[in-house]
Amino acid sequence: MKGETGSKKVYQSFGGHGMDVSINRADDLDKVTLNHVGAKESPSVLDLGCGAGGQSLRLALGGATVTALDKFDFRELIAAEMKLQKISEEKLKFIHGDISSLENLLQGEQYSDVSMQRTLHYLPYTDALKLLKYLHSVVTDKMFVSVTGLSSQVAFDYPALSLPIENRFSVLHPVQAEIFGIHEPVCLYYEVEFVSLLEESGWKVEKVWVSAFGNIKAVCHH
Ligand SMILES: C[S@@+](CC[C@H](N)C(=O)[O-])C[C@H]1O[C@@H](n2cnc3c(N)ncnc32)[C@H](O)[C@@H]1O
Repeated sequence: MKGETGSKKVYQSFGGHGMDVSINRADDLDKVTLNHVGAKESPSVLDLGCGAGGQSLRLALGGATVTALDKFDFRELIAAEMKLQKISEEKLKFIHGDISSLENLLQGEQYSDVSMQRTLHYLPYTDALKLLKYLHSVVTDKMFVSVTGLSSQVAFDYPALSLPIENRFSVLHPVQAEIFGIHEPVCLYYEVEFVSLLEESGWKVEKVWVSAFGNIKAVCHH
């Protein structure tokens, strides 16, 4: 676990998977998700790569039934926060598991929406495509998703830059890995490649934009 001090907040990277932003704040895409979900009767939302549960907790407080999943074991941390915020176990369930095995972990349930921020680039492209296709089959309404883009400082001297997207999967340059707390291999995207991935998996891209940091964010629907 690595800590990094911003202006006031401490950002941590758990298990070498980059800074957990959602525990500290809701970004623009998180807010769009909360507005969309908050307007529904009985939303059921997947939060994949939920980290320490920042967005999962906000979604549950906003009225959603949330299934939060991460391969780092956040069980105790999230349970403690649920207790503090008086969120019941019926409203928020944490699954400790890998998104590559999502189909086995979810046991055929359906969800209204899915949020997956700063996580998909930890899968090789073909695994990401398979996951997104599966999500299209079990999520009935929208997907809110982001990945790290090649315009980000994260990608400076990225060893796999010149590889075709299907083979582009490597650790970062050691200096960037240290700065951003990303020590696992990643597939970093150009915007056009990310849009193509989303469309190929069956999702319709409603809106896509690149943040100042260089994350590519998208809102998708069926
Ligand atoms: C940068 S953090 C993002 C946390 C939060 N979603 C946010 O936006 O701040 C990436 C998270 O994805 C999780 N993750 C990475 N690869 C994963 C995988 N294959 N299956 C499940 N979780 C994964 C990491 O453990 C980490 O908590």
